[in-house]
Amino acid sequence: MVNRFYVLGICLCLLQSCVSSLSANDQKIEKLLSQMTIDEKIGQMCQINGFSGQIPDKIKEEIKAGNVGSILNEVDVKTVNEIQKTAIEESRLGIPLLIGRDVVHGFKTIFPIPLGQAATWNPEIVKKGAGIAAQEASLAGVNWTFAPMIDIARDSRWGRIAESFGEDPYLVSKMAVASTEGFQGTNGSLFSNGKIAACAKHFAGYGAAEGGRDYNTTLIPEGELRDVYFKSFKAAKDAGIRTFMTGFNDLNGVPASGNQFLFRKVLREEWQFDGMVVSDWASIHELISHGFSSDEKDAAKKALIAGVDMEMASTCYKNHIKELLDEGLINIDLVDDAVRNILRIKIELGLFEHPYVDENGQGEIGEKDIEKAALEAAEQSIVLLKNKNKLLPLSTKINSVAVIGPMAHEKYEQLGTWSFDADSLLSITPLEGIRNLLGNAMVNFAKGLKYTRDKNSDGFKQAIKAAKSSDVVVVCVGEEAILSGEAHCRARLDLPGIQKELIQEISETGKPVVLIVMAGRALSIGDVYENADAVLYAWHPGTMGGTALANILFGKVSPSGKLPITMPKSVGQIPMHYNHKNSGRPVDPNNWPSIDKIPVKAYQTSLGNTSHYMDEGFEPLYPFGFGLSYTDFEYSDLRIETPVIARTEELKVSVLLSNKGKCTAEEVVQVYIRDLVGDVTRPIRELKAFDRVKLKAGEAKRVSFTIPASELSFHNQQMTNVVEPGKFMLWIGGDSNADLGAEFAVK
Ligand code: NOJ
Repeated sequence: MVNRFYVLGICLCLLQSCVSSLSANDQKIEKLLSQMTIDEKIGQMCQINGFSGQIPDKIKEEIKAGNVGSILNEVDVKTVNEIQKTAIEESRLGIPLLIGRDVVHGFKTIFPIPLGQAATWNPEIVKKGAGIAAQEASLAGVNWTFAPMIDIARDSRWGRIAESFGEDPYLVSKMAVASTEGFQGTNGSLFSNGKIAACAKHFAGYGAAEGGRDYNTTLIPEGELRDVYFKSFKAAKDAGIRTFMTGFNDLNGVPASGNQFLFRKVLREEWQFDGMVVSDWASIHELISHGFSSDEKDAAKKALIAGVDMEMASTCYKNHIKELLDEGLINIDLVDDAVRNILRIKIELGLFEHPYVDENGQGEIGEKDIEKAALEAAEQSIVLLKNKNKLLPLSTKINSVAVIGPMAHEKYEQLGTWSFDADSLLSITPLEGIRNLLGNAMVNFAKGLKYTRDKNSDGFKQAIKAAKSSDVVVVCVGEEAILSGEAHCRARLDLPGIQKELIQEISETGKPVVLIVMAGRALSIGDVYENADAVLYAWHPGTMGGTALANILFGKVSPSGKLPITMPKSVGQIPMHYNHKNSGRPVDPNNWPSIDKIPVKAYQTSLGNTSHYMDEGFEPLYPFGFGLSYTDFEYSDLRIETPVIARTEELKVSVLLSNKGKCTAEEVVQVYIRDLVGDVTRPIRELKAFDRVKLKAGEAKRVSFTIPASELSFHNQQMTNVVEPGKFMLWIGGDSNADLGAEFAVK
């Protein structure tokens, strides 16, 4: 008997010392967990949709009973406070709720779509934008955003490319870190500071949907997953992102929302992530449609075992976890761990101390600064693709300008996808931006088409009249906001409707034509570009888009955006990304048989056998990283200061950048490498560093980069992450075709 008490005593002491060695947050979590019933635990794991400004009685009862852990899509601050009050004062344990919302590229003030933000190649501006979005959203009671979306997107048919940072793992990783830091802040306490929890989505591979059709199957070899698709997620995790979202996709036969490899092995075991994983909307239930689960109960089991802590929208957890426990099909440890992860975020957000939002609150960042940041982001996101005879910048002394097109004056459409909470009245359209600069008298406006898909040419006459009576014509075309985003995929990448015909007829007036394209993807409109003297690609530029465009058109700012995706000539070239493999038969750029040059009755093998299309060739319309400026930048004197490095060392390189033109401008200097021989074949180029540099006319500057050898690593055939010794090529320049190069080696 004495012995038994003695042993019990030792056990208690050990337990006590374990508990006291826990962090204060973990102690709080364990205390709460020990008080929770099974139902309350399951309740934490359920996220339900909001009811726009009201709380139905049924939901109130559920909250009181502790059956809800989170609500999404509720942005009425009074309602949010009431929801929190119900949870805190009327539920048994008083646990506050996570209030989630898709705050993707702004809340009230809209920044360019993420694809446009990526075109800035400016992580600082992306961070600022996310910080502003967090402030505006937190004032509405939101404490958790479902952003950033950091899926690698190589296919413009996929509508969600708009919401991505593009095709390159390095660029997307930088933007992932920037937005994570912007939303969450970098110094601990989140919500009380106007910061909100961020969510890395969609883990993983979702952007590689077959045929660019949303929600579709993805087949990605493990090495490619690790070297391309995981990188941005790992970067976000290392930057402290607190939540991850699963994808809708079937990844190599296992849907992401039931994928143990992704969540248990990679995220938890390898990366040691201690935040929370939420499913995508009903994606646990959808395990049934995938043919991966027989019913809701099986779906709940598979998702929980895979490591999904919270279920969004569907009710498999709510209805079946208890039964699964009772039948011994899952272990309570799985439930406890999920609840721990959820409580941890709530504690870190400071929700237990500050659950309510000041209904008349004001953020630290004032309106003027918000406007300025949105303007800078828009200016830096716009890519100048063509500038024949240096038509741009236009002189403010011109007599008149025609502003034409279905996107010229559409306050809502220029905001792009995921602008649920935007105040579109704040938008400055291109027409307004130009009028603000030039005054009304000089501007002749005619839409030409009512909206981008319009097929009625009745408005052409007036548009042509406006063009004929002006010195220069600015034609604003593209896609309305609804044509990109979730589930809004396209099989064609041309301009919708009869915009092409409109441009054609305008160009036939003989007036100089500046084309402004606003779209949620890279459209393949080479033929249209032919009819324009200058082309500005503006994505969906957000609230301040019109001012940004006017500033660029009239030379107040030189364009500095660079493409974050390869722009194909035609849709048939997709998938097309700059960092592809060489193949055993790469094309000879100087000798490939164009379809028009093939002699009639040519002998089968007389044309050479290389990898290209006979009709579209092998090149895109514009390469990744491309973007012109109003000045001419010259790259020279590339120096590799460390021509041979050990695998633990850093590569130091520099280049002389000179502004040879007549205006101050910013250039994005890009560094690409190629690992010439690998245990697994390597891409022909990989971005490894970049910097945005501002130079005055005539100024020159040496731009230096330090690249750790670890950046050269990849997963070999054994799935080991290695930096292999051998020769590398390196190029520095203004796009992914940069030809100023030199060799270095890893020993
Ligand atoms: C589905 C989308 O895939 C996801 O990105 C989003 O966060 C949720 N819906 C919530 O709106």
